[in-house]
Amino acid sequence: MSIIERALNKAKDERHKSGGPIGFPNEIEKSVSGLDNSSLDTPMPKGMLLGVTEKEKPLHNTKEIENINWDKLAELGFVTPASNTDSQAIEEYRNIKRPLINNAFGVGSVGINRSNLILVTSSIPGEGKTFTAINLALSIANERDKKVLLIDADVARPSISSVLGIKSTPGLIEYLEGQNVKFSDIVLKTNMPGLNIIPSGKLHKHSTELLTSNRMIQLAQELSNRYPDRMVIFDSPPLLAATQGEVLAGLVGQVVLVVEAEKTPQSMIMASVNKLVFCDVVLLLLNKTQKNEDASYYGYGLYGH
Ligand SMILES: Nc1ncnc2c1ncn2[C@@H]1O[C@H](COP(=O)(O)OP(=O)(O)OP(=O)(O)O)[C@@H](O)[C@H]1O
Ligand SMILES: [Mg+2]
Repeated sequence: MSIIERALNKAKDERHKSGGPIGFPNEIEKSVSGLDNSSLDTPMPKGMLLGVTEKEKPLHNTKEIENINWDKLAELGFVTPASNTDSQAIEEYRNIKRPLINNAFGVGSVGINRSNLILVTSSIPGEGKTFTAINLALSIANERDKKVLLIDADVARPSISSVLGIKSTPGLIEYLEGQNVKFSDIVLKTNMPGLNIIPSGKLHKHSTELLTSNRMIQLAQELSNRYPDRMVIFDSPPLLAATQGEVLAGLVGQVVLVVEAEKTPQSMIMASVNKLVFCDVVLLLLNKTQKNEDASYYGYGLYGH
């Protein structure tokens, strides 16, 4: 057993010793929605939290459709409708998404709070968080009956909009500021029917406070309660660079910790794992491994459910 596997097991033991997963303190959770855990399976009264006051508005209520250039993305290595369906990357992402989908919607979801919310993070910059978040979103949304909301929560260094070539619009930050921005104002539809996107929005000097605000907690809670059939994927800042990643990890049911092969020091991976000790599910994804015929380009180390 490697040092990292031992650290993962230790983290898992500590999570169990401390009485199981902790997302929000119970009192916050109750104050947000008035629901206790037993009613998490029940859809919330419509229009309670997302800035919708009267009739329910659909999650994707935008007028324009963002036309993403799939050919260009495929050239950059993303798994798009334009990619060769036999490509190794497509097959790898099938394997990567399977446990996440099972934990979100299948038998594995029992006992995971907000199991359909997934945070993609890493220890340090540049390990492949955005690449992974976009690829996971595309891979899942490409399935006929699956819907995905991809949220750029790397509010200090957002990049999803630029990678996908979509225009900069109001996003998460504007919604969290709450200045008459409704949820439907920040959700972008794309030319992949199952894929919607929330950009990060403008840079904000108090973005950490906004991410810890009740409005953010309410958003996460409602995305889970009202849209339990939708996968919500958050791109995030690196865990060891700022507190924002850790804050976001407390809002989601599953965390994918991207590890750049041959680069991220073991000590940093262990420091990240320790920050994620209270998450229900943490999956390690080994990214940018050297391609060869015998080895997988990506890999998973799992712990949790
Ligand atoms: N598996 C991969 N195969 C090919 N290119 C990759 C892979 N993973 C990441 N990259 C490339 O590596 C670069 C860094 O990746 P990415 O932007 O996703 O990292 P990040 O962790 O989001 O960085 P930051 O912390 O700056 O947000 C990008 O050019 C991306 O396209
Ligand atoms: Mg990024």
